[in-house]
Amino acid sequence: MEQKPSMTFASVLKNPIYQRRDVLYALEPPEGFLHRNEEKNELVMELAPILMQSPVICAAVYGNPGTGKTGLILSLLKELEQEAQQNSIKLVSCYVNCSENRTETTILLELLKQLDSQREYPKMGWNRAKAVAEFERVLKQHANTQLVFILDEVDYVLREAGDDVLYRLSRIHNKTKTNVSTIIISNDVRVDEYIKPKTQSSLGRVKIVFRPYNEQELYDIIRDRAKYGFKKNVVSDQVLRKVAQIESQRDGDARRALELLDSCAKMAVARQHSKITLEHVNEADSSLERDSVLSVVKSLTQHQKLVYYSILKQREDRLAGMDVFRQYKETCQSYNMQPLSERRVRSLVINLNDLGLIRSEVGWLADLKKKTRKIEVTLDSALKNKVVKMLRDSI
Ligand SMILES: Nc1ncnc2c1ncn2[C@@H]1O[C@H](COP(=O)(O)OP(=O)(O)OP(=O)(O)O)[C@@H](O)[C@H]1O
Ligand SMILES: [Mg+2]
Repeated sequence: MEQKPSMTFASVLKNPIYQRRDVLYALEPPEGFLHRNEEKNELVMELAPILMQSPVICAAVYGNPGTGKTGLILSLLKELEQEAQQNSIKLVSCYVNCSENRTETTILLELLKQLDSQREYPKMGWNRAKAVAEFERVLKQHANTQLVFILDEVDYVLREAGDDVLYRLSRIHNKTKTNVSTIIISNDVRVDEYIKPKTQSSLGRVKIVFRPYNEQELYDIIRDRAKYGFKKNVVSDQVLRKVAQIESQRDGDARRALELLDSCAKMAVARQHSKITLEHVNEADSSLERDSVLSVVKSLTQHQKLVYYSILKQREDRLAGMDVFRQYKETCQSYNMQPLSERRVRSLVINLNDLGLIRSEVGWLADLKKKTRKIEVTLDSALKNKVVKMLRDSI
């Protein structure tokens, strides 16, 4: 068997391939979103009334994974905020990922948290009536503001908890005299089936669909990133074309095309090659799905996933056992699941350690005066993002 070259951190740092790997995964492309002008124009037309002080009751965006929905809307929102500022219009926007907040109560609490960052809104201990009352109270204080709420991955809440939150948002203007615009984003065009007729009629019918990308579009998208992500002359046109071709024949998903390109690059670095070749593409493509961490994650049980997700969601890479339990309980609340006992969760943490997904040991944590379980995340940030997404989609 071919002996693999030994790697050191220094050799990886000195690699001839990457310039800035993070660019490959940035939500905002270095030169803006490509091939989305039509969708962008439609959105601009829909959202422009906000600048004329009239709220948009609801705009809905649909599209397969990796078609640029989240990224494009967040970048458009920045433009909208700037325009509002230049025209002295008070505008506040809040973004909620509904896969992380699957009940009306936790969505409202998340909106509240963003509307008033000074106040604490812990997800535990609130029932729906209390959250609604608080939401209406806070909204009344924003009477002169244009509020824009984005509910991303809304399919999760519609499927699991129904459309109450949409109905409430569509009626909130009458109730609180506040200008609320709602944008919902979903993977599933059939999400309409989960929206009751009375909500449909007050929501309006604006629908914008993001198609999957074709080969040429994917090529342009990854070429744009490759310019920033890799050193000069590392990726040939042929390689970019191949990656674009492979992914266009699947789901036309830009995220996956970028991931495949990154896997090729990683392979080239590991083998100490100075260019990415077609062989790397073929090999990376066939091994991508077999990525061991991902297949282990896929096979976790529901509560193992909830625990792992709670750990990865923390901003710090090192945390204490009790933080995990606290976060886990919040996650369960958001996902509308009954939490297990602390003891069970502790054994799930040990489990995750045995599977190699985290490093966990009992020891002294710097700022605490007692011994506790320390938990450390060992994934690099690109893989961590991928795992978080996979967990969210499969819980
Ligand atoms: N038109 C585009 N131009 C450049 N980059 C793009 C484009 N569309 C998507 N991307 C990139 O692909 C990745 C995925 O995009 P994004 O997260 O916006 O997709 P999404 O439609 O929200 O997917 P999901 O349904 O899985 O949430 C991001 O890194 C984004 O920058
Ligand atoms: Mg998205």
